[in-house]
Formats: sequence, structure tokens, C-alpha cells
Amino acid sequence: MYKIFVTSKVSDSALNILKSVGEVEVWEKEETLNGKTLLEKIKEKDAVLTMVNNFVTDDIIQQAPKLKVIGNCGVGYNNIDIASAEKHGVIVTNTPDVLNDATADLTWAMILGIARRIVEADKFVREGKFTGWLPHLFIGNMVYGKKLGIIGLGRIGRAVCKRAKGFKMEVYYYNRNPLPKAQEEALNATYKNLEDLLRECDYITIHAPLNEDSHHLIGRDELNLMKKDAYLINTSRGPLIDEQALYEHLKDGKIAGAALDVYEHEPEIVEGLLGLDNVMLLPHIGSATYETRTNMAELAAKNIANVLSGKEPLTPVTKG
Ligand code: DGY
Repeated sequence: MYKIFVTSKVSDSALNILKSVGEVEVWEKEETLNGKTLLEKIKEKDAVLTMVNNFVTDDIIQQAPKLKVIGNCGVGYNNIDIASAEKHGVIVTNTPDVLNDATADLTWAMILGIARRIVEADKFVREGKFTGWLPHLFIGNMVYGKKLGIIGLGRIGRAVCKRAKGFKMEVYYYNRNPLPKAQEEALNATYKNLEDLLRECDYITIHAPLNEDSHHLIGRDELNLMKKDAYLINTSRGPLIDEQALYEHLKDGKIAGAALDVYEHEPEIVEGLLGLDNVMLLPHIGSATYETRTNMAELAAKNIANVLSGKEPLTPVTKG
């Protein structure tokens, strides 16, 4: 009987998939499992279903000799040492696609929220400061008709792009490799190099994975290229932005605002950001809808079930 460990409570539907191939143990506590405890839990297991906040390091993989598959419940997998997993013959899977729409919806909530100062305005009302309509109260910026820049036109970036149609935006994108013309036309998106995209767009949203190449993709120099009335939105991974440099730009009014769902040293946040009004700060909730989290857990469970029953995983990160 295979032994499977799940690092967080997940839907019954996902558990049932896992139970069809093995004995399942679930970490029921709210506290995040990492380090020594994570190792203790998985060192005798055949499979583990992880969340994106569980760090499966080389050290852990080395000490879990029975481990065959890590089913990560997330599209990002920078929390797993992929090279080590490959070296030890452990298959890693992720959950692409099922979270595209939830993440794209949140991105739009953030674009609109920061442009129209929704969080600031809500706070103002709650603090009892609303004394009636005023001509200059919480003036924000238009989204409709503006230029949207998408960094990373992958699955989530495309879902964001499609939603821009309703706002009649001109859409530009930056990818390492431009898409074929037919795809650009279907999406109504035009390729720009990163510098031009940063210089010209009003709303710049990041949907690229974190890897060695993308670390600090948006650093001080890149922020310097942005317009004074432009906004930066990030629902991908925090380390793509130099957070300290972003804080300084926001504090000095060098860009209009930012909306962040992820942080460079998550869950820590550059302290000064907390005191600024021109930044919206969310606690990594891009995929946090009931439907999406259920779909993610089911996909992670199916990947594990497939591997343990000798089939190909549905969405592998490595060939194993
Ligand atoms: C992911 O899937 O990578 C998200 O960040 C977690 O919801």
C-alpha cells in the first residue's frame, strides 16, 4: 500500500482520488509545514501533495528515498528543488490552466482597485470620514482605453489579455520569444521589448514564472523607465520585482501605484510599503476561489494517482 502525505486540508474529492491508490495522511493544522517537520512527515512516504508554501529542498528529497512523486498544488513550483528531484528520480507535477481565470480575475480586481483607489476609499468610509459627495474625493485614473502591458503572455497572461477587450485597451506584451503572428492577432496583442513596454504602458502586469532569468526582472533601472502615471501589478512571484526599489519609487511618486499579491521575501514585506496609500497589498490570493482550489487539489491528486499507478502524470514539470 502506497503512503501519501498531504501538507494541508484539501477537498474530499481530491482525498478520494488519493485514497484510491494509497493510504493518506493529512496535515490538518493551519500552520505551514516546512523544514524538519516536513521531512519527518515525508521521509517514509511514496508521494506528497504540497502547497506552494512548502519548501521541498534537496536536503529533504535526499532523505526521502521512497518518494516517487511530488504533486505541487500550484502552477508555480519554485518551492521545489527541481534539479534535485530529477537527480533522485522523483517526478514533480504542477497545476497549470485550472487557475488561469481566477488569477486573471484577481489581476483585474487589482488593476481597477489601484486605479480607482478602492482600498483607500473603503478605509475612508469605515473611519467615519465620509461627510457627503465632494468634487475632488478619491480621484483616480481611467482604465478604459488605456495601454496594458503584459509581461509573460502565457496561460494566465492570455486570460488577462482577453479581459482587456471589454476595457477597449491597447494590449502590448513582452515574452522571451514573441508569439506567432496568428496568435498575436487572435489575442489582439502586440509584442514590445521590455524597455519599450515599460516606457509606454499605463498598466503593467506580470505573469512570468520565477527562475534564474526572471529574478529582479523589474529592478531600479526598469522602474525608472515607467511613466509617472503608470501602475505595476504583480500576481506571479515576488522576487520578479526588486521590492525595495519599488518601495522607493512609490514613496517618491516616480510611478503612480502598484498592486501586489506576492512579495520578494514572502510573507515578509518591505516595511515602508505598509505605510503607503499608492500600493494595494494582498496576501497571495490569486487562485483563491472555492472552485479553483478544488480543481487544483483534484489535478494534483490525479497526477499523484497516475504516477503511483504506473501511468503518465497529466501535468509534469519534469520527465522524472
Ligand atoms: C500558484 O499556483 O503558483 C499560485 O501562486 C498559488 O495559488
